[in-house]
Amino acid sequence: MKFREVNHAKCKTYLALSERARAAALIDPMRDRIERYLALLAYFGCRLEMIIDTHTHADHRSGAIELGELTGAPVVMHRRAPAPHVSRHVDDGDVLNVGEIALRVLYTPGHTPDSISLYAGDRVFTGDVLLIHGTGRCDFAGGDAGSGYDSITRKLFTLPDDTLVFPAHDYRGHTQSTIGEEKHSNPRIAGRTREQYVELMNNLGLPLPDGIQEALQPNQTEIDASALNFPTLSQLNQVRQLDPGEVLAKLNAPSAPLILDVREEEEFRGELGHIPGATRIALRDLPERAGALDAFRDREIVVVCRVGVRSTTAAAILTGLGFDRVCNLKGGMIDWNDARLSVEH
Ligand SMILES: [Fe+2]
Repeated sequence: MKFREVNHAKCKTYLALSERARAAALIDPMRDRIERYLALLAYFGCRLEMIIDTHTHADHRSGAIELGELTGAPVVMHRRAPAPHVSRHVDDGDVLNVGEIALRVLYTPGHTPDSISLYAGDRVFTGDVLLIHGTGRCDFAGGDAGSGYDSITRKLFTLPDDTLVFPAHDYRGHTQSTIGEEKHSNPRIAGRTREQYVELMNNLGLPLPDGIQEALQPNQTEIDASALNFPTLSQLNQVRQLDPGEVLAKLNAPSAPLILDVREEEEFRGELGHIPGATRIALRDLPERAGALDAFRDREIVVVCRVGVRSTTAAAILTGLGFDRVCNLKGGMIDWNDARLSVEH
C-alpha cells in the first residue's frame, strides 16, 4: 500500500493506493487538478474506488462530484455534509476499505460540522481540524471552537503518539507531523484549557478566505455561481433559524406555515424523507419558480433541506425576492429525524 500527497501545494490531496487490489482512494481532490489525478491513476494502473472529502471546503472548489461523475467512484462525506449527490454518508466508527487499506472514520467537528478524520493505523488524515503546528479556524461555515477542542483532545490526541499526521492544508511548507509532537508543541492547543482555546479561536481576527462565496456556495450546493446569484454572507446571517421543536410548534398552531423543501427529488423521497405536507422546489430552480409561491407571500414559509445550509441560501433568496416571513429549519432533515419527528417518504 502507498500513500502520496499529490498536489505539492498548500491544499493537500492524498492518494491511497492498494497495488495488490489495483484500487485507490482520493482524499480532498481539487476541481482544477482533476486531469492530474486521472493521469496518476492511469500511471499506477489503479481504479478509483472512492473519493472522500474530509469536509465542505471554503477556500477551493472540491473536485469530488465531478471526479465521481467522470469515474463512477462514489463520493463519501460525513452525514452532516450539506451538498446533494454525496453517494455515501458516513459517521464516527465507519470503516472505508480500499483493497487492504482500511480507513476508519473519526467524526471530528469544529472547523465545520461535517469534518471527519481518517485513521489508517500508522497515520491519520486530519482534514482542517488539526494542522501541523496549528488548527483549522472555526469562525464560519458552522464552525465551533469548543467542539474543535473536543475533537482534537478527545479523539485525535488519544491515537498513539507515533501516528503520522497529514492535514488538508499547510501554509508553511510542513508535510507531516505526529500526534505526539502536536500534543506537546502545537502552539494553538498544547497546554490550553477548553475555555482558553475557545477564547483564542474566537478572537483570531483573520480575514475571510479570498473568494469564499465562490468556493463555499458551489461546494455546499453543487450549483455554479454563474447559474445562481448567491446571497452575501451578511444576508445569510440574517436568516431566522428555528430548531425542529419550534417548527413543530408552528405546524401545530392554527395558521401553519408552508414547509418549502429545496432538496433534489431523490433526497426528498430518500432515507431522510420529508416533513408531511412539504412542497418541493429544488434550490437550483428557486429563482425561476418562486412565482409559484406568490400565494404564500403573507404566510410564513419554513425552508428545509438536508442539514439547513442549502435552505438558508434559499431563505435569503426568497427574502431578497420580497417574501418577508421566511425562516429556516436549523439542522434540516438530519436534526428533524434525530428528534424522531414524523416524516413521509
Ligand atoms: Fe477547510
